[in-house]
Amino acid sequence: MSKKTMVSFRLNGKDTDVVVEPRELLIHTLRERCLHTGPHIGCETSHCGACTVDMNGMSVKACTVLTVQAEGADLLTVEGMAQGGELHALQEAFMQEHALQCGFCTPGMLIRAHRLLQEIPDPSEEEIRYWMAGNLCRCTGYQNIVKAVQYTARKLRGEAVQTSHPLMGETR
Ligand code: FES
Ligand code: FES
Repeated sequence: MSKKTMVSFRLNGKDTDVVVEPRELLIHTLRERCLHTGPHIGCETSHCGACTVDMNGMSVKACTVLTVQAEGADLLTVEGMAQGGELHALQEAFMQEHALQCGFCTPGMLIRAHRLLQEIPDPSEEEIRYWMAGNLCRCTGYQNIVKAVQYTARKLRGEAVQTSHPLMGETR
């Protein structure tokens, strides 16, 4: 049996220590030890993006990162997006634009879109599709996910936003 080691990181702003075997994957640590089950396990081969988390300002697929590689890291998962009981603008936008159906891909989509908007506050549709290409969705056809990112970008720039979804119709 391999020797266990302590790994320390910040998880959604909270100092966290875990004791793991060197072979343990970050997705398993997050879900089973830290009880952050937002990051999902889909393919476990870095294809689907369901396990996407932000690590030191980069999107990573937690099914292909060893927990020991997260030593000293700053990690953001979907659980860290809402603040003070208020949804993050992206979460609101996904709701307003009907950008999810079953929701399995959504935690990874939100974290990837969050990184995109950190890097490019006013992305073109082409840039959104390029940045989100590593996150697969079997339900939505992607169009409403693109709209949700555009909605968020407008909102974060202080512009009035209105959903394009016919059943929502709420202006904020
Ligand atoms: Fe990690 Fe699919 S579970 S990319
Ligand atoms: Fe079902 Fe994306 S909403 S996989």
